[in-house]
Order: sequence, then structure tokens, then C-alpha cells
Amino acid sequence: MTTAFDPIDLGGLRLANRIAMAPMTRSRAHGPGLSPTAATAVYYAQRASAGLIVTEGIQPSAVGQGYPDTPGLHSDGQVAAWRAVTEAVHAAGGRIFAQLMHTGRIGHPSLLPGGLTPVGPSAVAARGQVYTADGPRQFVVPEPLDEDGIRQTVADHVSAARNAIAAGFDGVEVHGANGYLLHQFLAPNANTRTDAWGGDPESRARFAAEVVTAVAAAVGAHRTGLRLSPGNTLGDIDEPDPAPTYLALLRALEPVGPAYLHIMETGERNLTLELRKRFGGVLILNARTVGRPSGPQELALVEDGTADLVSYGTLFLANPDLPRRLRAGGPFNTPDRATYYGGGERGYTDYPALGA
Ligand SMILES: Cc1cc2nc3c(=O)[nH]c(=O)nc-3n(C[C@H](O)[C@H](O)[C@H](O)COP(=O)(O)O)c2cc1C
Repeated sequence: MTTAFDPIDLGGLRLANRIAMAPMTRSRAHGPGLSPTAATAVYYAQRASAGLIVTEGIQPSAVGQGYPDTPGLHSDGQVAAWRAVTEAVHAAGGRIFAQLMHTGRIGHPSLLPGGLTPVGPSAVAARGQVYTADGPRQFVVPEPLDEDGIRQTVADHVSAARNAIAAGFDGVEVHGANGYLLHQFLAPNANTRTDAWGGDPESRARFAAEVVTAVAAAVGAHRTGLRLSPGNTLGDIDEPDPAPTYLALLRALEPVGPAYLHIMETGERNLTLELRKRFGGVLILNARTVGRPSGPQELALVEDGTADLVSYGTLFLANPDLPRRLRAGGPFNTPDRATYYGGGERGYTDYPALGA
């Protein structure tokens, strides 16, 4: 029987096990020009026993930033700073993909340089509030991307993906989940376009398909992953019938063949199984759990073949040596919510390993 502690091949890259660290924004890009710091390298290197680390969401362009102090991959300084992170992870024997996260309408002008306004598929504001330096503010109406804007945004993802490879990442994960830009195009309540980028499921899937296709063409499909969260209501997303849109997206990506699909599951398992059946690559599953974070129970999803890898968010945040602890059946450090976002080394690099 295959277990989560067995190695696996990911697009020619050997992963030591099938336990992935899920992407987690930490809002600690305190280096020059929104770049990671020495502490970031320590934080990820501490977690190098993951089969695969997926970084926090990284904005591919200045306008793609939706939260304070998140890092980018669109300047030479950021590339140099990320190189120190990937070197530290590789020296510790780990594998690391950069998550490219364009937050689209989830953002605020006060977070953006030079009077930029958040962009989106349509002039539809998300209901809810965003955290800014001046406290919570209502989301604004985004500037709808025109044809040129769409081309530029695809190109920004491509150039960030190239930068990721230049910085030594093993690959990139395109963020198509959790209510951010790609998800906004997929969802009928955020995308009310009537042109080639909206309307039926194929047209709503087109932008995500173009981004992944272009990124894969630039850095290789074997180094390209995609995160999806069908039906996830984060960021005021409403997808009453997600299956046709996500199946259309996978159909469009068939000729591309991305290395993996990372599903953040918030709905029924049936759709996960359906997507797995239609996808030729590796499936990483961040399983739906109710009232608790992913835990040791989820290892069984690899054993029964539901997924190829399982990913852990909060448990990995708090347990740098998570695979070892999962193998031992615990104990686990408790994550401290107060230090999830922002701040310094507390709640970042000071969670102890077993026996430390
Ligand atoms: C502090 C924090 C930050 C997160 N940031 C991101 C992110 O940048 N990108 C993303 O795709 N998901 C993000 N997530 C979601 C996680 O990847 C994961 O799906 C979620 O925590 C559920 O998994 P769990 O039960 O193992 O914690 C974040 C979660 C947490 C707790």
C-alpha cells in the first residue's frame, strides 16, 4: 500500500514524501521593496522535510497585491531575496514552489503604489472588508480588465513565473482559488462579462486557462501547478453550479498537462473525485474538514488513492517537522492565530521541533 511517507515523482522532480505544506500568507515581507527576509529563509528551511513546500501567495505585479506586507516576484531585488530562501530550502533537502497570487478585486487602493486601483473581471465589488494600514475598509469597485489589461495580466504571471525559476524555485503554483483574480473570472457573480471572457462556463474558464497555458509555455508544464477551490465562498464568491466551469477549465488544460492540481476542498468530495478523474497529473488535496484543521486523519486519503499528496496549512505553520510528527502520531504544537499575519519571528520561526 502507498502511504503518505512514500516518495513520489512530480514532473520529474522526486519528492521525499506526499505531505505538502499548503500556501500561507504571513505578511512579513519586511525586506526592501516587499521582499522576503532572512527570517523567511529560516521559516521555510525549518519546514524542508515536507515533500513539497508551496509558498505564501506572491503578487506577480504591484497591482496584484491585496494585503499588507506580502512579497512580490516582479523586481530584481525580490528575485535576489527569494534566491536566499530557495537556497536555504534546497540545502535542507526540500522542494519549493512559488504560489503566484493576484488578488484582483480583493484589495484596496491604499495598499497599492502610485494611485493604482484593484482590477477584476467586472465592475463588481466584493461585499466585505479588507485590512489596510488604517484598519478595515470596504472593498472597492475594481477596474474591469480590458483586452490589453488581460494580456498584460497574463504577461505579468509569465514574467513572475520566469522570475521564480531564476530565483531557484522548483516550480510555480498558479493561484486559481479562494476568491482571487482567477477565481473571480471563474465565478458568475464576480464575472458578469458578455465578451469572450465571460458568460458560459468555457468563457469564464478562459482567463485561468490562458494564465496556466502561458506560464507552462514559459517555464514548462512539469514545473506548473494550479490551485482551485470550487464552490469556495471566500472573497464573496458565489458558484451555484461549479462543476461545468471547472470541468471546462480542465478540458482547456488537457493539451497543456500541468504537473499538478491542488484542490482546496470546501464542498462535496464527489466534485474532487470527478476533477481527479479528468486530470492527468498529480492531485494534491487540501481536504475539507469540518470544525478542525487537516490532521493525521487525512493521511488515509493517500492510502485509499483519493489523492497523491495531502497538504497541511495550519498544522505545518505550527509544526516545522510535521512529517515526523505525523509519522509518530503527534504531539502537535498549537497554532497561534494572533501571529498568523504580520509581526516578526514570534509565531514564525520559533515553533519548536520535536525534542528541541
Ligand atoms: C494564515 C493563513 C494564510 C493563508 N494564505 C493562503 C495563501 O496565501 N494562498 C492560499 O492558496 N491559501 C492560503 N491559506 C489557506 C491554506 O492554504 C489552507 O487551504 C487552509 O489553511 C486549510 O488547510 P488546513 O486545514 O490544513 O489549515 C491560508 C491559510 C492560513 C491559515
